[in-house]
Amino acid sequence: MPALVIVGSQWGDEGKGKIVDILSAQSDAVARYQGGSNAGHTVIVGDKKYVLHLIPSGILHEGRMCLIGNGVVVDPQSLTEEINMLTSMGFNDVYSRLKISDCAHLVLPYQKLMDVAQEKQRGAGKIGTTGRGIGCTYGDKTTRCGMRAGDLRSEKKIRAKVETLARYYAPLFEKVYDVPVPNTEDVVRELLGYAKTLVPLLVDGPLWINNLIKAGKKVLIEGAQGILLDIDHGTYPFVTSSNPTPGGACTGLGLSPQSITRVAGVVKAYTTRVGEGPMPTEFDEKFGALIRTEGGEFGATTGRPRRCGWFDAPVVRRAAMVSGLNEILLTKLDVLDKLETIQLGVRYRVNGQETDIFPSTLDEDDSLEVIYEEVPGWQTSTCNCKTYDELPENAKKYIAKIEELIGLPIAVVSVNPDRDGTIFRKEDFFA
Ligand code: GDP
Ligand code: IMO
Ligand code: MG
Repeated sequence: MPALVIVGSQWGDEGKGKIVDILSAQSDAVARYQGGSNAGHTVIVGDKKYVLHLIPSGILHEGRMCLIGNGVVVDPQSLTEEINMLTSMGFNDVYSRLKISDCAHLVLPYQKLMDVAQEKQRGAGKIGTTGRGIGCTYGDKTTRCGMRAGDLRSEKKIRAKVETLARYYAPLFEKVYDVPVPNTEDVVRELLGYAKTLVPLLVDGPLWINNLIKAGKKVLIEGAQGILLDIDHGTYPFVTSSNPTPGGACTGLGLSPQSITRVAGVVKAYTTRVGEGPMPTEFDEKFGALIRTEGGEFGATTGRPRRCGWFDAPVVRRAAMVSGLNEILLTKLDVLDKLETIQLGVRYRVNGQETDIFPSTLDEDDSLEVIYEEVPGWQTSTCNCKTYDELPENAKKYIAKIEELIGLPIAVVSVNPDRDGTIFRKEDFFA
């Protein structure tokens, strides 16, 4: 009954999509447990590029079943578009391989409009959200006025839920945010259209996944975002509104903690972040632009330029601690290929006090200084390396340095976006 959770262990965009795609080959089913279409998971297969927002990256492997769990917030419009994109690219069996938990909450136009309106109102204090209605939908879930995927089964329920949401949002849009109120009938009609596609895919998610696990199937669990964006463990308030931590996989799928057999953290060989909030090892503008170009660091969902910085050990140490990581899967090593020297943030000095872990709270008034170590670069291309032995000596030393700093083994090294640009240092990830 092995279940392997893959979590992003920085601020998202670590390359989870690529890693989940590769490891799907070893699994029977792949499940998402949190987030929504704020996620952008890019997978390159041959000459084709797929950007997945809601559907687990396992969908690109023949025969793999995929579940969108109860903890995900599903925008029916975005999901329908994604299904259509996959079918138009030749995945005709998406309808038979994709399941959606009927308890997953739905993102409606109200929450998307409110997300954008609230960001505008925050002005300079904005979070830099993706504008996909994520925070407002989790908010409505928590205040118990949200609409769930199962409600799509009945026109009566659709209408009742939409009317409830309209009653709440309309006065706010009109009187506070100056936003045109969506027409209730239009929203209902659109949902009835999406229901035709999505209702046949609905399942009792927890029952579905627990039955697979009971049957001894290998389940891969795909995190979205990253641990430092976790609503509880991230750089609040500059976070997303869900729990990418493996605990989120238990609640977001209806799985017992005992069912989770391993947790692997995807870590970029440097650091990136999109949106606002602290990023201690961030490069200056000029060097940031260079690495951004080298690494193609532009948001897969919003196209925004990603902020770039050196590898930050205190960030990954906190992620490893709160997630109980067993191992690290290191991506984008090749992006550092040309550098003469490379820095690693090894510790911080926060308000004059040394610490080796990212602080649980960090305010604007806190002083934070990063303590760096410099190592020589390898100035050799790694993107065609197929084995660990083929990597340049200094690249191996860089990998060993990260292992030493975090105290975890690096089980995979990724050196280009393709499936074959992946160096495995162990064979079986479900063992
Ligand atoms: P995710 O959100 O964690 O799935 O990551 P994204 O897909 O948003 O961003 C990662 C980007 O890096 C994607 O465009 C991937 O195709 C690309 N990528 C993944 N692994 C590698 C790698 O080892 N080297 C390079 N150069 N690109 C990679
Ligand atoms: P993947 O799965 C990187 C960031 C946003 C913003 C904050 C809150 O591709 O790694 P939200 O729209 O969630 O309310 O925005 O979280 N963010 C991400 N950053 N990768 C992501 O997903 C992200 N999803 C949300 O930029 O700072
Ligand atoms: Mg992404």
